[in-house]
Amino acid sequence: MPPTEPAELPALWLRDNCGCPECRDPRTGQKLFQVNELPEKPSVETAELTAGAWEVVWAPDGHRSRYGAEWLTEAAAPDDRTEDAKDLWPTADALGGRLPETTWAAYLEQDGERVGMLDAVRRLGFCLLREVPPHQDQVLEAAHSFGYVRETNYGLRFGVRVEDEPNNLAFTNVRITPHTDNPYRDPVPTLQLLHCLVNDAEGGDSGLVDGFAAAATLREEQPDAFAALTRTPVPFVFRDAVTELRAERPLIGVDPRGRINEVRFNNRSLGTLRRPADEVEAFYAGYRAFAELLLRPERQLEFRLSPGDCLVFDNTRLLHARTAFARGGARHLQGCYADLDGLLSTLAVLRRRPENSMEAAR
Ligand code: OGA
Ligand code: ZN
Ligand code: ZN
Repeated sequence: MPPTEPAELPALWLRDNCGCPECRDPRTGQKLFQVNELPEKPSVETAELTAGAWEVVWAPDGHRSRYGAEWLTEAAAPDDRTEDAKDLWPTADALGGRLPETTWAAYLEQDGERVGMLDAVRRLGFCLLREVPPHQDQVLEAAHSFGYVRETNYGLRFGVRVEDEPNNLAFTNVRITPHTDNPYRDPVPTLQLLHCLVNDAEGGDSGLVDGFAAAATLREEQPDAFAALTRTPVPFVFRDAVTELRAERPLIGVDPRGRINEVRFNNRSLGTLRRPADEVEAFYAGYRAFAELLLRPERQLEFRLSPGDCLVFDNTRLLHARTAFARGGARHLQGCYADLDGLLSTLAVLRRRPENSMEAAR
């Protein structure tokens, strides 16, 4: 196949991507012009292929650009936040019995381990760091190892243990069914960390469910239900003595191309949907169908956190759960929120080193 020629490509797109020092600041690579400053109808006057790059002279202004021949035909990278960039696991068995896990020491010391864990959060939605010292505030260190902590009304970090005056069922001993955290917050925290300090109680086992996989199944098997959930914003609310939070979002978020990019599911904080009856009925049919899928036992990966285990997971995709535990038993986790953008940035920078690149990982 002959190489794609510049004149075959959308001219404004090509001109907008000129990399010359007049068009882009050489220090930062950032663009120096506005789109409306370009000629309205630029066209390629001459194009010459030399040493793997196209030299283009533009009409009407005689501007000169240079484009790598391979760059011209590069495929678009999938948006890291959508289902297209993920390895979905519709059942726990689909993970093949292997958890993405490593020790805190290996994670800190070896780039390859760190890339593996951060990439597992990107692809699978979670990773498990073992032997993270079971000390107060160590969860903040874990978040700082790849990004930034998101402070909320629960604090910079929060303790998950039985409280006398809980403002959330998480801070009791009852069972917590699969949910995403803080759907009443906008923007929602995109990552959650849970670090186990003590788990001596009977019960208190953990569970994870892939919400994107369930949403994809819903789309396949019950397209009307899927459509109702993507088009109906529902109020999520949280209220205590000093806080009142509210966000309106659909249970399944899709990007402008229709690709799944967010799941919010939390029966504790779903508020009252006040819409015309037909809309409410369509929503409830979809909500029930989605709940039935999400709560199927085979979808849930079950494991138990031991002291030192720190779970890092994508709160826009995975649902997390825990079983009830004996009221007298000692169980104490510390949690905090963080964001995927910081994690994905750390991963991308680590991958600039050739030995950590995508190719090396395969
Ligand atoms: C939470 C939560 C799970 C657990 O704090 O958000 O869901 O294992 N906790 O206690
Ligand atoms: Zn230029
Ligand atoms: Zn939770």
